[in-house]
Amino acid sequence: MRRALLNTTRGTALSVGLGERSRQLNSCAALVYRRHGHDLDTVRMEEMSLPALGRHSVRLKMLASPINPADVNMLKGTYPILPMFPAVGGNEGVGEVVEVGSEVTSLRPGDWAIPWDTGFGTWRTEAVCEAGDLLLVPRDMSLLGAATIGVNPCTAYRMLHDFVPLKPGATVIQNGANSAVGQAVIQIAAALGVKTINVIRDRPHRRELEKELMSMGADVVVTEEEMQGLRLENVIQDLQRPVLGLNCVGGLSGGLVLSSLRDGGTMVTYGGMAKKPLHIPAKALIFRNITLHGFWMTQWKRNNSQDMSRLVTMVTTVCGLMKAGHLRPPHCAQVPFHQYRRALQATTQSHQRKHVLIM
Ligand SMILES: NC(=O)c1ccc[n+]([C@@H]2O[C@H](COP(=O)([O-])OP(=O)(O)OC[C@H]3O[C@@H](n4cnc5c(N)ncnc54)[C@H](OP(=O)(O)O)[C@@H]3O)[C@@H](O)[C@H]2O)c1
Repeated sequence: MRRALLNTTRGTALSVGLGERSRQLNSCAALVYRRHGHDLDTVRMEEMSLPALGRHSVRLKMLASPINPADVNMLKGTYPILPMFPAVGGNEGVGEVVEVGSEVTSLRPGDWAIPWDTGFGTWRTEAVCEAGDLLLVPRDMSLLGAATIGVNPCTAYRMLHDFVPLKPGATVIQNGANSAVGQAVIQIAAALGVKTINVIRDRPHRRELEKELMSMGADVVVTEEEMQGLRLENVIQDLQRPVLGLNCVGGLSGGLVLSSLRDGGTMVTYGGMAKKPLHIPAKALIFRNITLHGFWMTQWKRNNSQDMSRLVTMVTTVCGLMKAGHLRPPHCAQVPFHQYRRALQATTQSHQRKHVLIM
């Protein structure tokens, strides 16, 4: 379903390629697109006028914003929700509150805040939005942590809490284990005493990646190729057979995760990076009683947006894990805002680092 989504902070794009000096007081620089396209040159830096501050609104100076796969899918027009044009790219990021309307009590100048919903348009230097569009995050966490906490670590947190009761010692298996979500799964699971089997794609410096994931708390790291060649006992080693599988790849890789689950296990699909249909052997459903679920953070947040308490609790808990040292931000490459083209290209070519625009 194609659903028009407000860029809640949208303004009017004025002109192309303006620098800091020529920017008007009530405007910002934003990465704007007016059509979808698979080559990412639909995105341009433009000056955009900002609405006046209302009684319930907030002026937010954006500090940092990542480029996530969903952002790229939105640019291409392949995401299930799409913005109205002209649209500002980006759905996640952290900003500093610089001014609040007379009726705003939830935020103060100097606070750090993140948008809670998809479609904010975070690739911009400033925004004016409703205070209710934002969630407060602690200022004493790292900038990269705050910029990347609202989507991927929250997704990992929900998938580890909402589908199967995980006791310490239980095992979770996931593919795309080096993704930002995968890194968060490893760390949050480790904090819960839950073991993880982590499937990655083979690569030239595979052992380095394996070491990095082990340093986060991974118990087993295995390539898709090894999963196909090894007996399952050799992969699982002395761990319990997985009760929960997390799949962000699809295709054969998703099938490998599914096949390794114990009878009665659950697999949650939350991404389709391989862009190939999931291999599901009929016997897994008939004889092994495997349950399949999907998860979409955007929908979960929207389902919980009437009473924001579950959303606030989740973000507070995940920020707490980060502040306590149980969760670190994903491996990031910081890119100055004006070099957005480089960051967009790099994102489509390699997933070794999460590219974060620094405003
Ligand atoms: N459902 C939700 O609510 C939700 C929330 C957050 C994220 N997601 C989804 O979760 C996935 C990961 O997001 P992220 O931000 O964590 O990603 P990321 O950090 O950008 O990493 C991308 C991951 O995808 C893998 N990958 C890329 N192309 C692939 C292919 N053709 N075959 C197999 N693996 C491939 C990469 O592995 P290599 O290193 O081998 O390239 C890497 O592990 C994405 O699909 C994203 O849309 C879903």
